[in-house]
Amino acid sequence: MSEQIRVLLSEEELDRKIAELGERISKDYEGESVHLICILKGSIFFTCELAKRITVPVTIDFMCVSSYGASTVSSGKITIKKDLEESIEGRNVIVIEDIIDTGRTLRYLLDDLSARGPKSLKLCAMLDKPDRRITDVAVDYTGFEIPDEFVVGYGLDYDQRYRNLPYIGILDLG
Ligand code: XMP
Ligand code: MG
Repeated sequence: MSEQIRVLLSEEELDRKIAELGERISKDYEGESVHLICILKGSIFFTCELAKRITVPVTIDFMCVSSYGASTVSSGKITIKKDLEESIEGRNVIVIEDIIDTGRTLRYLLDDLSARGPKSLKLCAMLDKPDRRITDVAVDYTGFEIPDEFVVGYGLDYDQRYRNLPYIGILDLG
């Protein structure tokens, strides 16, 4: 077995897009503050880089949900592995996701978080695979729409590896 990775989005493309998203979010929340919820582990790099580009006051919390095991196919069953530390009641929440695939994870998160009484709740995803969607979820801020390929890097893993790649690549399992 020889795994190969083809670059899909370079570090420069990602930087540019994240700066753009940061600017949009800063404008949309002018005069307010935002509470970013980083969905572990895949969104860590995206959340850090995005947070640096937001000019309104930012707070960050983390949540870990799982839908994938050590495979490239979603199991469909979502469980909370680590919950938020702080209450989101009355806050402007933005959920930061690495990638929207079937949409099941976001659907689950939206239902769960909206029941906790945030002032507002929006979604921001670095990547979107629209061809794979089975649940209807509206993403407020999207980085890139990508084809239906399994991607790694910039936080995304294959069996916990490749998260540290500074770019996003298509994984070819060979
Ligand atoms: P759903 O199907 O619930 O899935 O929208 C979202 C989660 O699935 C993972 N995912 C991927 N992870 N490369 C990855 O490393 C991929 O191409 C990929 N597609 C989906 C990811 O954890 C995401 O949060
Ligand atoms: Mg994820």
